[in-house]
Amino acid sequence: MTLRRGPSFGGRYKGKVAVVTGASSGLGRCIALDLARAGATVVGVARRRDLLEELGRRMASVSPGSRTACCDVSDSEELAALLARVEAENGHVDVLVNNAGMDPGIRLSAITVEDFRRTFEVNTLAAVTGTLAVLPGMYARGEGVIVNVSSDGGRLPAPGPGAYPASKAALAAFSESLWYRARRMGVAVHVVYPAWMPTAMGIAALERGLRRPPRPLRRSEEEVSRLVLRRMGGADLEISASRVTDWATVFRALAPRAFRRARGGWESGRRAHRSHRSHRSHVDEGSEAATEGSSGVPEQPAGPVEVS
Ligand SMILES: NC(=O)c1ccc[n+]([C@@H]2O[C@H](COP(=O)([O-])OP(=O)(O)OC[C@H]3O[C@@H](n4cnc5c(N)ncnc54)[C@H](OP(=O)(O)O)[C@@H]3O)[C@@H](O)[C@H]2O)c1
Repeated sequence: MTLRRGPSFGGRYKGKVAVVTGASSGLGRCIALDLARAGATVVGVARRRDLLEELGRRMASVSPGSRTACCDVSDSEELAALLARVEAENGHVDVLVNNAGMDPGIRLSAITVEDFRRTFEVNTLAAVTGTLAVLPGMYARGEGVIVNVSSDGGRLPAPGPGAYPASKAALAAFSESLWYRARRMGVAVHVVYPAWMPTAMGIAALERGLRRPPRPLRRSEEEVSRLVLRRMGGADLEISASRVTDWATVFRALAPRAFRRARGGWESGRRAHRSHRSHRSHVDEGSEAATEGSSGVPEQPAGPVEVS
């Protein structure tokens, strides 16, 4: 199974060694394939072996030496050992993309501390583990790129239990702190805000009640992958796919009360709609707030769920 060559990004990934977590599907798979097409030797990491095998074959068809590795990134020892193995086999890691992520999708009335712990282990601590594992090698060589995939939910939390946005906000704060120090050592650190994407995670959020976000808040994983490959290694910390969300953060900073009133009003509209529906169908949907959508876009008040 061969893979057609994609953009070369000026040849800057040729001969580089890249590790991408969450590579079995969605955005991580796209980034892994785009890096392989651009000439990098890629190690794609995730848990689903069958998907990884297919990815490994496709990557190797354009980039011999590219491969995959099965690993649960929440197991810090396993992840650190895997990265040490890649360094031993390939000499170094030039690019680490911490993309693996999960959204527990559980209501506030049912979520537990364990759900929070698991979410933080996968979304935050795995990226910390990976970063701490590759940073000494990058510092020693005076170059490297670390990409942490956050979410608009991390910078504009949606009403809900907060596990997903809190884990992504922590990841963004970690990335920003590190950015100041690492750039002096030649290492670029980025935090990615992908907008909403129609991946398994994005679709699951629709199935829980998120209405399909409008075009300015929506990107395909291919679009986001190309954006990341174009921008990573540059001076900017943030790689954001949606200008509208960027402006919304400005609005929140300038007029926080108005921003939260608007967002809260949206949420109470959604609840009112639900309780009306529940009344009609005699189904108790619970009175607690919704789960967060994966993009951080809150579930919306009315209308049918539109699945792309
Ligand atoms: N979709 C959106 O709208 C959206 C919006 C903003 C941010 N994001 C972020 O974008 C990133 C990619 O998500 P996606 O949308 O592409 O969703 P996806 O298709 O569901 O991909 C998630 C990836 O993470 C991997 N993963 C999850 N838990 C893991 C674990 N414990 N160990 C190893 N790998 C694990 C999955 O692989 P296995 O199951 O095979 O392990 C899968 O490859 C995530 O960080 C997500 O939070 C998504």
